[in-house]
Amino acid sequence: MAANRIKVWDPAVRLFHWALVVLFAVAYLSGEESEALHAYAGYGVLGLIGFRLVWGFLGTKHARFSDFLYGPTATLRYARALMAGKPIHYLGHNPIGGWMIVLLLLSLFGACWSGLKLYAIEEGKGPLARVPAIIAPAKADEAGGADEAGEEFWEEVHEVLSNLTLALVFIHIAGVVVASRLHRENLARAMVTGYKEKQD
Ligand code: HEM
Ligand code: HEM
Repeated sequence: MAANRIKVWDPAVRLFHWALVVLFAVAYLSGEESEALHAYAGYGVLGLIGFRLVWGFLGTKHARFSDFLYGPTATLRYARALMAGKPIHYLGHNPIGGWMIVLLLLSLFGACWSGLKLYAIEEGKGPLARVPAIIAPAKADEAGGADEAGEEFWEEVHEVLSNLTLALVFIHIAGVVVASRLHRENLARAMVTGYKEKQD
């Protein structure tokens, strides 16, 4: 049995993933409720993104971007095989999964950045509140005009990016379910234990 198991995800990738699931859920659900909890969950997500970027270069084999970022040829070949119901098996992330990870990280970063802008403009709090040059126009004029427009803008961006991320998460989970069925392997369990069964 043990000989059939291959270590795929190192503990850092697994911890990153499940911490991200928890912090994203807390951030999303606390958006309209608790200001402090929401901000700390958002900072946590930002920290995780930063960690993952570094780990994408320094991590173990399947954690590295070079292992799962494929060009258009390999991605199209994978998509065609998938449509034909004969997906090519990858031990690490498959090419479509790899691009989904890029989208998720970008969208999460956008949600956090717009959240930081909003926190600075609306509440005068957070790291960007101390960097006036970046949040120009920072001070509301007497009529409150400039700042109100900025606040509305970043509120809109923050809401759109938070919901876009949620939509990507649903597609991500659907992708995990479909790939697990097609390959008869439990990908979610592999993200918990770190191991996959040998296929060929
Ligand atoms: C309960 C819900 C979730 C399940 C079951 C799940 C499952 C998985 C699985 C199985 C993988 C590995 C895919 C593969 O084998 O190639 C993965 C990767 C990933 N998931 Fe999820 N996921 C969930 C929720 C989320 C959420 C909420 C986010 C982000 C907000 C997310 C972001 C990611 C990222 C960034 C990766 C890449 C992991 C890495 O290489 O660092 N997932 N997920
Ligand atoms: C993954 C990261 C994040 C997600 C998913 C998220 C999600 C949300 C959601 C769903 C809302 C409610 C929007 C609405 O009222 O319609 C919200 C509001 C807000 N978020 Fe975030 N957010 C994130 C990160 C951040 C960060 C890092 C900050 C700044 C520290 C932040 C600051 C705010 C502020 C100030 C509001 C407005 C609260 C209000 O006026 O009611 N967010 N966020």
